[in-house]
Amino acid sequence: MTPSAERPLLVTGTTGLVGGAVVLELLRRTDADVYCLARDGRDEPAARRVPRLLAGMAGAYGMDDVLDAIRTRCRVLPGDITRPGCGIPEELLPATVDEVWHAAASLKYRERDRAEIDLHNVTGTRNVADLAVRLGARAFDLVSSAYVAGTRTGRMPEEPVPVGCRANNAYESSKMAAEALVSGVPVETVRVLRPGIVIGHSTTLAAPTTAGLYGLVDELAAFRARIEPRLGNYLDHYPLAFLGDPVGTRGSLVCVDTVAAAAVRLSRVGAPGGTYHLTNTEPAYLGRTIEGVLAALGMAAPRWVSDRAELSSIDDALSKRLEFQAPYMLQDKVFDSARTRRYCGEELFTVPLSTERIAEFVTRYVRDRAGEQVEAGRRTVPSV
Ligand SMILES: NC(=O)c1ccc[n+]([C@@H]2O[C@H](COP(=O)([O-])OP(=O)(O)OC[C@H]3O[C@@H](n4cnc5c(N)ncnc54)[C@H](OP(=O)(O)O)[C@@H]3O)[C@@H](O)[C@H]2O)c1
Repeated sequence: MTPSAERPLLVTGTTGLVGGAVVLELLRRTDADVYCLARDGRDEPAARRVPRLLAGMAGAYGMDDVLDAIRTRCRVLPGDITRPGCGIPEELLPATVDEVWHAAASLKYRERDRAEIDLHNVTGTRNVADLAVRLGARAFDLVSSAYVAGTRTGRMPEEPVPVGCRANNAYESSKMAAEALVSGVPVETVRVLRPGIVIGHSTTLAAPTTAGLYGLVDELAAFRARIEPRLGNYLDHYPLAFLGDPVGTRGSLVCVDTVAAAAVRLSRVGAPGGTYHLTNTEPAYLGRTIEGVLAALGMAAPRWVSDRAELSSIDDALSKRLEFQAPYMLQDKVFDSARTRRYCGEELFTVPLSTERIAEFVTRYVRDRAGEQVEAGRRTVPSV
C-alpha cells in the first residue's frame, strides 16, 4: 500500500450512527487515512470492533465500494473521550492530523444522568479538542444538534445559541455547553454541525441506531407489548391520543447519508468556521411523523388533543412514557439552513417525508430489529 499524500483525518464516535457514516463518506471522497477513535467493546477490542461495524454499515447503505478502504485506510485508535488525552496509548497517536470530526457523545437525556452526560459531552468534547490542537489539526468539526434550539420556537438561525436559552433536558444543555466550549478552540476553522433528528439511509432506509425517531418507535412497540396481555390487539383499533399539534408542530428528520455528505462536503469546499444546520428543507410535520410510525407498527391512526384532560387513562400512561418526546410535540421549530445549502448545494437537503415514506423507514427498522433479536437468540443456543 502506498501512503496517502493527504494528511490523515480523525473521527470520533465511529461505531455510532453519525460518526460511522462520516468515516465511510471520507473513505469515498478523500484519499486520506482515517483515524477512528473508539472504545473497546465488552468482548471485542476496538481494533476488531470498528472494521466489523463499519463494514456492516457499508453493507446496509449499499456502499460496498468502500469495503477495501475500511481495511486499508482506517486506523483504529482505542480510547475513551472522557479520559485525558482521550486515553489513547501514546505510541498509537499519529504525528499529525488535518481535520477532526467529533461525533462521539452520550445520547442520554435524563436529569439523573446529568453528570455522566456532561462528562461525555462537555469534558469529552474538551478532551477531543485538546487532542485536535495537540495533533496540529487545521479544522475541528463538532457534531452538535439542531435541538440546541432548546425551548425556543419558530425559525432557528444558523447562529450560536443565545445567552439565556433554556434547554428541554440535560442532553440539550450539554450540547449547548459543548458548542460554547469549541468556539474558543485554537485551530484555523471550527465548524459546529447541527443535524436534525437523524433517520436511516435515504435509499436503503437502513438505520443502525435506536435513537431519535427509533426511540419513539421502541417506546410505542413496548407500550403495545405491555398492554397486550390484558387488552389483546386493542391498539390496532383504538386511536391513541397525543398532546400536540399535528400540522402546527414541525421538526427536522434528516437522513444519515445526508448528514455525512454535508459534514464532508463542508470540509472539501473549505466552508468557513461557524454554525451549520444539517436539516431537511422539508419540515417534518408531527402529524405525518406519528401517523407514519403508528401505521408501520400496525396501530390505529392517532387522535390529537390540546389539553391533558382529554387523555384517557391509556393515553395518559403512554404520554408518561414519552417524557423525552413530549416537549418536541408542542414546540414548533423550523431550522434555517441557507448557509449550509450555499456550500453543500440545494438538492442534498430536499428529501420529501410523507407519512408513507416515514412508515417505510420505520418498517425497515422494525424488520432489522426483529432480525437482530433472532440472531441474538441463535447465538445463545449452545452449539452441540
Ligand atoms: N441520532 C440523532 O438523531 C442525532 C441528532 C442530532 C445530533 N446528533 C449528534 O450526533 C452525534 C452522534 O450521534 P449518534 O446518533 O451517532 O449516536 P450513537 O449512534 O449513539 O453513537 C455515539 C458514539 O459515541 C461513542 N462514544 C460514546 N461515549 C464514548 C466515550 N466515552 N469514548 C469514546 N466514544 C464514545 C459511541 O461508542 P460506543 O459504540 O462504544 O458506545 C458511539 O460510537 C452526537 O453528538 C449526537 O449528539 C444525533
